[in-house]
Amino acid sequence: MRAHDAAENDAEDAQDAGSGAPPDSPAGPADAAGCGPPAEPPPEPGPAGGAPPPGAAQEDGRAGDPDPEELASSHYRVFQDRARQATWWAMARRMPALVGRALVLGWRAGPGDLAATAVFGLGMGAATAWALVATNAVLEEVFAAVPTADRVQAALPSLALLAAALVARGACGALAGRAQARLEPRVVLAAERRFNEAVTEVEVAAFDDSDFNDRVFRGYATGCDQRGNLVRTSVDALTGLLGIAAAAGVLGSMHPVLLPLILVAMLPQWWGSAAAARLRYRLTLRLTRVMRRKFMLQNLMIDRRTAAELRSYTMGPRLRAEFDRFADRELEARLRLATRMALIQVTGGALGGIATGVVFAALGLLLVQGVIPLAAAGAAVVAVRVAQGALGTVLVSVNQVYEAGLYVADLEELEETARARTPRRGLAPAPQGFARIRVQDVTFTYPRGADDDGDDAPGPALAGVDLELPRGRTVALVGENGSGKSTLAKLLSGLYAPDTGRVCWDGTDLARVDPEDLRARIAVIAQDHTHWPMTARQNVVMSGPEGEPERLARAAGAAHADTVVADLPRGWETLLDKRFARGHEPSGGQWQRLAAARGFHRGDDGAAVPLLIADEPTSALDARAEHRFFTSLHAHAGRTGATVVLITHRLASVRMADVIVVLERGRVVAQGSHGELMERGGVYRELWELQARAYRDDAAGAGRAG
Ligand SMILES: Nc1ncnc2c1ncn2[C@@H]1O[C@H](COP(=O)(O)OP(=O)(O)O)[C@@H](O)[C@H]1O
Ligand SMILES: [Mg+2]
Repeated sequence: MRAHDAAENDAEDAQDAGSGAPPDSPAGPADAAGCGPPAEPPPEPGPAGGAPPPGAAQEDGRAGDPDPEELASSHYRVFQDRARQATWWAMARRMPALVGRALVLGWRAGPGDLAATAVFGLGMGAATAWALVATNAVLEEVFAAVPTADRVQAALPSLALLAAALVARGACGALAGRAQARLEPRVVLAAERRFNEAVTEVEVAAFDDSDFNDRVFRGYATGCDQRGNLVRTSVDALTGLLGIAAAAGVLGSMHPVLLPLILVAMLPQWWGSAAAARLRYRLTLRLTRVMRRKFMLQNLMIDRRTAAELRSYTMGPRLRAEFDRFADRELEARLRLATRMALIQVTGGALGGIATGVVFAALGLLLVQGVIPLAAAGAAVVAVRVAQGALGTVLVSVNQVYEAGLYVADLEELEETARARTPRRGLAPAPQGFARIRVQDVTFTYPRGADDDGDDAPGPALAGVDLELPRGRTVALVGENGSGKSTLAKLLSGLYAPDTGRVCWDGTDLARVDPEDLRARIAVIAQDHTHWPMTARQNVVMSGPEGEPERLARAAGAAHADTVVADLPRGWETLLDKRFARGHEPSGGQWQRLAAARGFHRGDDGAAVPLLIADEPTSALDARAEHRFFTSLHAHAGRTGATVVLITHRLASVRMADVIVVLERGRVVAQGSHGELMERGGVYRELWELQARAYRDDAAGAGRAG
């Protein structure tokens, strides 16, 4: 990151290079340790000189474009691409589709509320028109050439009508607002439900794809809310348009020449809103990187996992200084924005004043020439005001609709990807069990993200793997780090599907069975098991049956988690997360025992769950616990008749396995019993002798010392 940051000629990025902080680890590389602010004063970001004319907004935005390479790994990339098209024309073109989408979403989530919104919105428009007509009627009476008292009396019915129209307008507005306020949370909730389903049903391989992860993050952070925004702002835009239409309709019916006047009155406001929105939008875009780094830095300050090391290595001041540097830049940009906004406001106000003057002069002229009566001129003034107000709503809403539309499209793409990557349901149920599992010529490469280029693509994690796992036996997978043990375990547990080759339970290829049904028949003690922020009981039972205390006790006993639970302040009901009140934090080894109990609990019924996979289940256990654990594992195989797949580096424990499979760089290089492998020589015997020697030396050392 540093190299290309430094290569940037844009002022902002030059500052980034000075900070030496790659985006994924804001703390920065070691060589920048203890660095203060950059030695030279930071170059002035943005164009030189004072506040530029509002028209410069676009150019300024372009100058601050984040560099493409960083964006390749950025959660926000999508906006960079699409915001370039955020011209008024592009927005206007997208409007019908977006508003249509909003109406569909609204209709699906709450048809009654959407209908009510529409009815009352139309009612508001009608009441506005009615009020304008009544205003005209009142003025006609008041300006009629009769004595004053009579004029007022004659105007009374029209006045009453006007009052009624205003009351109706207010009532419709309130009811439309209520319906809209009821609609929005329904739309958001519907979006959240779809999102939750999409991300929990999609195959696990999708999470290896950085692009998918980015989309998930955006969907989680903003996407669902933005669906609600899209519906709300679309309705606002339509309501505003109705207001304008009502004003224009009434004016046009009084005299067609009044129609262009309303346009003249609206133009400056149109320009002012557009310029201001554009400026704000461009700034947000330009500040995305800065805000993202601030966010990451603050996350490091508040995270419980970093809290201890932050203090051990006195990272507090360093992180705060880094934060301040970004925050200062943001502040500066926001202050500049405030000035420019004021400038736009002043210019817009002046232009608006001129336009209003022009309109009034034109009205006067029409009046003098007898084209329109005095009352119509008076009503026109009111109508122009109404139209201006409605236009304000439309302008703000159109901007918001466009922006919400970007997020919503993104969320829909996520849903589509997830749908495409969700395993088909309705496949054959998984077999009840097996006499043997066959892994036949299996090759597997982890999926790469759309952004990864082919240059540094890793080779296959598994290549040409052939294997047989007999029922009721213990099979050990051994090999160095990265040799493919966990990958093979994940394929056996139905989490990933092989690229080529097959995994079969007897004659049934697992690719043809329902994956969820299959996974329910397999118990997994994962290497990277999750510390679920739930009670100890829930951490073991998971989605299984709750009311089986004996099963729970058996599982805990087998995993030696019973002593862990006995020491917890509220036993099985203790909440295992310090972030919550009365939460408790087990040690790494204690967590591992709970994770093992999870596996034993799932596998308690060997007929229903004929396969138990344990991936380095003892890496955090002390020697005694480890030994006891392996004894339990064999007892489990004996009691339930299940096949046990064990991955471990402790070869003394591997010795007990019926079959030992040695993996090297994704290939099976040897398999057999301990005796056979020792006889044959090779990697296994080398590793074994290495470990045995270490123990012997230790023992001898201890003997001499003693
Ligand atoms: N989710 C993943 N995405 C991409 N590559 C992975 C992933 N998990 C593991 N790998 C790679 O696959 C290879 C085998 O990893 P793994 O099966 O975890 O090894 P082992 O368990 O034997 O230590 C390694 O090169 C590792 O970097
Ligand atoms: Mg592993």
